[in-house]
Amino acid sequence: AARKPLLAANWKMNKTPEEALAFWREFSGRLSGESERVEVVICPPYTALPALDGANLRARGVYLGAQNVHWEPRGAFTGEVSPGMLRAVGCSHVIVGHSERRAYFGESDEAVQRKLQAALDEGMTPILCVGETLEQRTAGRAEEVVAAQLTAALEGLDTGRAARVVVAYEPVWAIGTGRSAEARDAGEMAAAVRRRLRDLAGPAAEEIRILYGGSVAPDNFVQFLAEAEVDGGLVGTASLRPESFFALVAAAA
Ligand code: G3H
Repeated sequence: AARKPLLAANWKMNKTPEEALAFWREFSGRLSGESERVEVVICPPYTALPALDGANLRARGVYLGAQNVHWEPRGAFTGEVSPGMLRAVGCSHVIVGHSERRAYFGESDEAVQRKLQAALDEGMTPILCVGETLEQRTAGRAEEVVAAQLTAALEGLDTGRAARVVVAYEPVWAIGTGRSAEARDAGEMAAAVRRRLRDLAGPAAEEIRILYGGSVAPDNFVQFLAEAEVDGGLVGTASLRPESFFALVAAAA
């Protein structure tokens, strides 16, 4: 496909700045041109962003991302970080609406929509996460749930900049469980995401990267990549070790 594959490491609440730099030394030592063919993004905790910014990932073709963002530019929002602040420490990408944020921190569809818009306003690439719970899948509602999340997050989107959005389909029951989706099911869901994106974003939908996330590992990733509408992965556990994250990057390159 014309879409460039994207592979994002979501470290979640793992790694100090020192550990992040140790990862980068080891990971960057393995890179030899893969990052020209794959958009590689590392999303550490906020506290490790300045250290990685200082390590100049861009010189090796790798991008820095954040795991969350607030939609306001500044002000009395204790504990929050704005898009401009992320830009100032080298972030070009940001994850929005991860299921852990929705489930544990009460992030609403409306908040996700604001975050996505704020990231776009700042010129960043938002990685919008959507996905159904096991209960919703069992009830046969997976497509409907994901379509509703997409609509809520992308409604009113200026189609001129829609192509910059990345969508990560992550079935909640497959996250951190070691139990990934079947590649075929993930491919069907990605196709459903693409159909919905066509309604919401018009022709730009063909340019939007759709990632699969949920227990991605070096031994299952190629199956997901073989699905026509899957353009890469959003990886948690397997992104924490340089050798396994590199294996995923190499598979996509
Ligand atoms: O953002 C990443 C996903 O939540 C997947 O996490 O690879 O540990 O299942 P996982």
